[in-house]
Order: sequence, then C-alpha cells, then structure tokens
Amino acid sequence: MKRIGVLTSGGDGPGLNPCIRAVTRMALGCGLEVMGIERGYAGLMDGEMTPLDARSVGGIIGRGGTILGTTRAPEFETPKGQREALRNLNRHGIDGLVVIGGNGSLTGAYALHRLGFPVVGVPATIDNDVVGTDIAIGVDTALNTILDAIDKIKDTASSHQRAFLIETMGRDSGYLALMGGIAGGAEMILIPEVETSLEEVAQGLLDAYVRGKAHCIIVVAEGYRPGTQAVAAYLQERQEDLGFEVRVTVLGHIQRGGAPSAFDRLLATRLGAAAVQELRDGHPGHIVGLIGGQIALTPLEDILTHHKKLDLSLCELAEIMEK
Ligand code: F6P
Repeated sequence: MKRIGVLTSGGDGPGLNPCIRAVTRMALGCGLEVMGIERGYAGLMDGEMTPLDARSVGGIIGRGGTILGTTRAPEFETPKGQREALRNLNRHGIDGLVVIGGNGSLTGAYALHRLGFPVVGVPATIDNDVVGTDIAIGVDTALNTILDAIDKIKDTASSHQRAFLIETMGRDSGYLALMGGIAGGAEMILIPEVETSLEEVAQGLLDAYVRGKAHCIIVVAEGYRPGTQAVAAYLQERQEDLGFEVRVTVLGHIQRGGAPSAFDRLLATRLGAAAVQELRDGHPGHIVGLIGGQIALTPLEDILTHHKKLDLSLCELAEIMEK
C-alpha cells in the first residue's frame, strides 16, 4: 500500500477535522501518501481530491466542521456512482480509503468493500446510532452544546415559571435527548424509542407544577412522534389546567458545530490513527470504534445487519431523577 484516501461524508459534526489530521499524520508516519477527497462520495465520484501533507492539516484540531467538506450523495448508492468512484480511486493511485461518517456513509464504505476495495470506516455522527462503537465522534461536543442550552433556558424558564420543550437532533435516535435530558436535569424526556402519549406529557407537566417546580424542562428528540410542535399545541390548549405557560426552543444545527471537546479530539485522534494502522496491516472491511474504552474492530457488514439500541435502563434512571 502506497497511497490512501480520506473523506468525510453525511451530516458533519465536531471532531471531523481532528480525525482527518490523525489519518493524515499517521499515514505519513507509516510512509504512506494521503489524498483528501472533497465533498464526501460526491467528490469521489467527480474525482475531486488533493494531496494532504502534515502542514495542510495544521491548526485544525480545534476547528468544527470539516476542511474536506461533506455531502449526502444518494447517487453513490447506484452501481454507476460506485463504478465512477472506483475509477477515480484507481486513476489517482489510491489503494486504501478511510471513510469518516455515520450510518449512510458507512453503508457506502461497505459497498466499496464488497466491490473489493480496501476500506476502513470511522464512526462520526452526533446521533450516536452507529454500531461498533460505544460513542461516535461528535457526540460529546453536541451533548455539551445541548447542556449549555438547557442550563440557559432553565434560567429564563424559572424566572417566568414556564415549561420549555427543547428539541434536540436525532432523526431516528433518542440518544442526545436522553443523555442531554439526564445531564441537564430535565423533568421529562420524549424519544422515538419510547411511546409517550400527549396525555402522559400533560400529566407530567401537571405533576411538576403540583410538586412546586419553578419550571418544567421537556427534552424532545427530533424523531419523537407526533413531534415537538404537536406537543406544544396540545399543552398550550390546556394551559389553564396545567399551570405552566409553554415555549419551544429547537436547538437545530448549533449541535453540529463548534470546537470539538477534549474527549472528541482524543477520540478522533485515536480512531483516525487506528483506521490507518488497520489499512496498513491489511485488515480492511472494518469499523474502527471504541468499546469499553479500547479500540475495537467490527465488520462493516454489521452496519446493515445490526441496529444500535439505546440503553433503555437509562430511561428508568431519568424517571427517578425527574422528581
Ligand atoms: O444524522 C445527523 C443529523 O444531525 C440528524 O440528527 C438530523 O436529523 C440530520 O442530521 C439533519 O440533516 P441535514 O443537516 O442534512 O438537514
């Protein structure tokens, strides 16, 4: 192996830059050349790539976003897209690839692996819904952003005796809402993995009021149904009976930006470096993650066959803490 490529794909998140840096510097340390592929699989299909050296990844360890850019590229799911990608990899003399991203990106990595190209995947998504790692790159920073927001909203909520619905990201996963809610001392947490009716939410609000709480913080995952706005409308309609006035804050993309935390910088550095070592040592076709504090390899195939489950015992913990 002489030259590897690296790309970031799908939704960005804090920690992608330190990971690109780690991949590059570990590769250079192993005597490999590195090509940075721009705009994820879109750039791979279009042949957009530039050589990376130690200096081109200088000063990025603390920067959010990704210097390579990223896209969601549905065309890469087609045989034509994958054929173009392979053609460009060959044309540029790339004989191994590190893909940094979430479920969609690692599914793409598995497709290339099945076509016989050496690929290693590094899990990076704030949703923390990727198999093969206890925690993905970006999650810790996103959680800290959520906590900062909850703490601030709590100040104003208490001053006005209000209830707030705070919506976190997580299209299919309640991880951020659950962990953010527990760490932020929320009164209620609504996630897609646990069915909670509007009536139950209203009852929770009333209970908090009757217990004498100065505020009621309800953290809602983006994927919870019937959705944050529907909950807000229902509670607002019943405001007279429930005690608290209701406001909504959707945190949105601020969760995906910002300087990566110390944890994310270290995780990204460890996983990026390990990904290169696995390629060099001839172990492609894996996700490189952190399990029980140790670097662990999981077959890329598991991205299709296994679904990462939320630890629902934490919901019980949350319920006790909510009182
Ligand atoms: O997958 C990460 C994520 O942040 C989800 O939580 C969210 O639903 C989605 O990306 C938003 O994607 P986009 O930035 O493309 O709107």
